[in-house]
Amino acid sequence: MAEFDYDVLVIGAGPGGYVAAIRAAQLGLKTACAESRETLGGTCLNVGCIPSKAMLHASEYFDAAANGAMEKMGIKVSPKLDLDTMHAQRKDAVKQLTGGIEFLFKKNKVTWLKGRASFEDAHKVKVGDETVTAKNVVIATGSSVTPLPGVEIDQKVVVDSTGALELPKVPKHMVVIGGGVIGLELGSVWRRLGAKVTCVEFLDQILPGFDGDVRKESNKIFKKQGIEFKLGTKVTEVKVKGGKATLTLEPAKGGDAETMEADCVLVSIGRKPNTDGLALDKAGLETNQRGQIEIDHDFRTKTDGVWAIGDVVPGPMLAHKAEDEGIAVAENIAGQTGIVNHDVIPSVVYTWPEVAGVGLTEEAAKEKGDVKVGKFPMLANSRAKTNHEPDGFVKVIADAKTDRVLGVWCIASVAGTMIAQAAQAMEFGATSEDIAYTCHAHPTHSEAIKEAAMAVTGKPIHI
Ligand code: FAD
Ligand code: NAI
Repeated sequence: MAEFDYDVLVIGAGPGGYVAAIRAAQLGLKTACAESRETLGGTCLNVGCIPSKAMLHASEYFDAAANGAMEKMGIKVSPKLDLDTMHAQRKDAVKQLTGGIEFLFKKNKVTWLKGRASFEDAHKVKVGDETVTAKNVVIATGSSVTPLPGVEIDQKVVVDSTGALELPKVPKHMVVIGGGVIGLELGSVWRRLGAKVTCVEFLDQILPGFDGDVRKESNKIFKKQGIEFKLGTKVTEVKVKGGKATLTLEPAKGGDAETMEADCVLVSIGRKPNTDGLALDKAGLETNQRGQIEIDHDFRTKTDGVWAIGDVVPGPMLAHKAEDEGIAVAENIAGQTGIVNHDVIPSVVYTWPEVAGVGLTEEAAKEKGDVKVGKFPMLANSRAKTNHEPDGFVKVIADAKTDRVLGVWCIASVAGTMIAQAAQAMEFGATSEDIAYTCHAHPTHSEAIKEAAMAVTGKPIHI
């Protein structure tokens, strides 16, 4: 009889966990994945990336019809919102994709253990009523919403991202607490569908972690679209009565308080790693000050045979980062060399226009040494101009001595697609000249990346 029930037990079937399980099985390891949700796919497929993009995509069409953008191109329409159908297509996308993971588990012979997992020891895990043993355990339990002290999320008036995806009617006034990725994406959805949206952000600028120019410019664009911003402001209290919320706001640096009424409040101030109930101590593990499980370069925790990936470990909380770590950890368990280059993880905000970046911000690059920066406005890109998409720019940051590309930032309608070529170039150690001399198809938005790269040495063609 085998010493263990499984070679690999993955805890959590989000993009980190399900990918790790499939790759481990592909590599010939006997694999199980414990998941407590009714469906596979984790936050991303059930209540995150996928449903939010379904609502963003549909609301973008509605907005284009309602705000005159279609009329400008000779298409006269008077759109009427059918929110139930919009929600139905969101649910359908989720159902199809989560069902797809179940199919892939069957195809690859990954056993789904349904239930909550907790450690009995480093190689023994209780899942629901069953206890299983595994030579290797991968913790991929993801993250959940960070609560705002004193503010109760009732999923009716005060919602988190999950509640904000499912609102049964368009709020008159939605206050978004936190000008990060979730606040801007879901705030945009409901603004497009007719809500007045106010975004309260603690810091002096939205989108922390993004390049300074990008933060300023995107703020201007969202403001122009109608989102009102209260920067440098904190919410100290939210009282709910009769289906309405009264918020108390104060300047972050101190000062006079003001109140604001809303019929929907979205709390989106970040996410925290999920480790409650895992009994990490029984596996000889603890969390760091940020609640994360510490790992080494190979995704090993300090306990032999226990590994961790995704939102529960340090690094950006992004699905593609979790997926790549899932592949790498499975390869490492199988004795191969699984590596993730954490310096080249793209970030995309799926607003309109999209906001995307990879590598260092200009500010961070300058702290490391001398840099050259090339910028190119989307207004001068023929495709963006033709499509009536004048907002945004591309910025390429390169090392002043070696010309190696250190970071690329874009605001453009398809910035999320454009950033892939920048990530690939950086992965291959490209210089700005390499990008500038690569032939880009015309007319495409991506030509703006070529021109920004040309601008690094001062010679773009179209400005
Ligand atoms: P998760 O996806 O959180 O999955 C962890 C799974 O583990 C969950 O299903 C959970 O039920 C399960 N689990 C937890 N504890 C246990 C236990 N003890 N036993 C059994 N099962 C357990 N990222 C992007 O890159 N692009 C986007 O567009 C994007 N949009 C987002 C939109 C929203 C609204 C939100 C909330 C997030 C979004 N994200 C996006 C972030 C992305 O969802 C996460 O980074 C990603 O899901 C992390 O993957 P993971 O596998 O680490 O964890
Ligand atoms: P976030 O970290 O992106 O933004 C939170 C914002 O709230 C920050 O700007 C912060 O300064 C602000 N804040 C914190 N406390 C506050 C307070 N008391 N009052 C006012 N503002 C306050 O977190 P968010 O938007 O909740 O997203 C969570 C995670 O989900 C992110 O790490 C992100 O990577 C991921 N995500 C990714 C998406 C994507 O890739 N497109 C989409 C949605 C989420």
